[in-house]
Parts: sequence; C-alpha cells; structure tokens
Amino acid sequence: MTKPQIWIAAVLILFFILFFLEKSTKRSDVQQKSEPTVTQQTQQSGQAKTPEQMMASLGCTGCHGADLSGTNMAPSLHGVSRFWTRDALINYLRNPSSYMSTGRLKDYQAKYQIMMPSFNNIDVKDLGKIADYLLSLKK
Ligand code: HEC
Repeated sequence: MTKPQIWIAAVLILFFILFFLEKSTKRSDVQQKSEPTVTQQTQQSGQAKTPEQMMASLGCTGCHGADLSGTNMAPSLHGVSRFWTRDALINYLRNPSSYMSTGRLKDYQAKYQIMMPSFNNIDVKDLGKIADYLLSLKK
C-alpha cells in the first residue's frame, strides 16, 4: 500500500468507528426515553397502594406501631372513630398542630416527646383512604 492508500484506509476505519459509536449512543437514548414510562408505571402502582402500605411508607407505623396499637412515641390509632369524622380526620392529618389546644391531644402533647407531623403534601384522596382505614379499625 502506498502512503495515501494507508491514509484513506485509516479515515475509512475512523468513519466506521464513529458510525457505530453514534449508533450505540442512539440506542442508549432510546433506553432513556423509555425510562419515564417505567416511572409512570411505578407511580400508577403507587396510587394503587393499600392504606396499610401508604402508612408504612409515610412512617405512621414507625411512631404508632406496626399494628397501630401505639408505642411510647405515639398513641394507639385503634378506635379513633370515637373522636373523628372522616373530614375532621383528613384535616387533622393535614394540619395536626391546629388541633393541639383541645383536651385529649393537649394531654398527648405532654405525654409523648414527639409531635404528630403534618401530612399536607400528601394527595387528599390518599389521606381519605387512610382516614377510611383508620375509622374502620376496631378498638
Ligand atoms: C413522628 C411520629 C409520628 C408519625 C410519623 C405519625 N404520627 Fe400520628 N401522632 C403522633 C403523636 C405523638 C400523636 C399524639 C398527638 C401529638 O402529640 O401530636 C399522634 C396522633 C395521631 C392521631 C390522633 C389520635 C387520636 O387519638 O385522635 C392520628 C389519627 C394519627 N396520629 C395518625 C397518623 C397517621 C395516619 C400517620 C401517617 C400518615 C401518622 N399519624 C404519623 C406521632 C406520629
């Protein structure tokens, strides 16, 4: 091979390398594009979570106990239907501090070191499901 022929061969090889590199990059682009679909599916199955699963992932069970019967950090949630209507309970979960001045919850504040956090960033529909579940718990 003459010198120019070697150069042409080298350029051709380089061209093919770049061509395949580009192809493989595009393939990973496609993979990236498909990722949001996977996320959407996860979100959809997230919406289908049961109240128990939601309460576990929100940390309710961490304070109120795995079976919600109370710990030394938070009171039992069994039988809260004696104290709350559905709407009031949803409002309470969104903003517990606005209920703190009333008798039973005021006593809880003295009894437990931690305060009930507010869950105002959670979809009200999900809070509704949690409220329904809590109101269905027997004493
Ligand atoms: C950081 C600990 C903590 C977490 C997490 C927590 N709570 Fe509480 N919760 C408390 C405490 C403590 C009280 C007692 C009131 C107070 O002192 O704020 C309480 C009170 C309550 C009450 C009122 C009980 C009554 O007798 O009326 C309900 C209902 C309740 N929590 C539900 C929930 C739900 C549902 C979740 C999750 C979405 C949750 N809590 C997460 C600590 C917690």
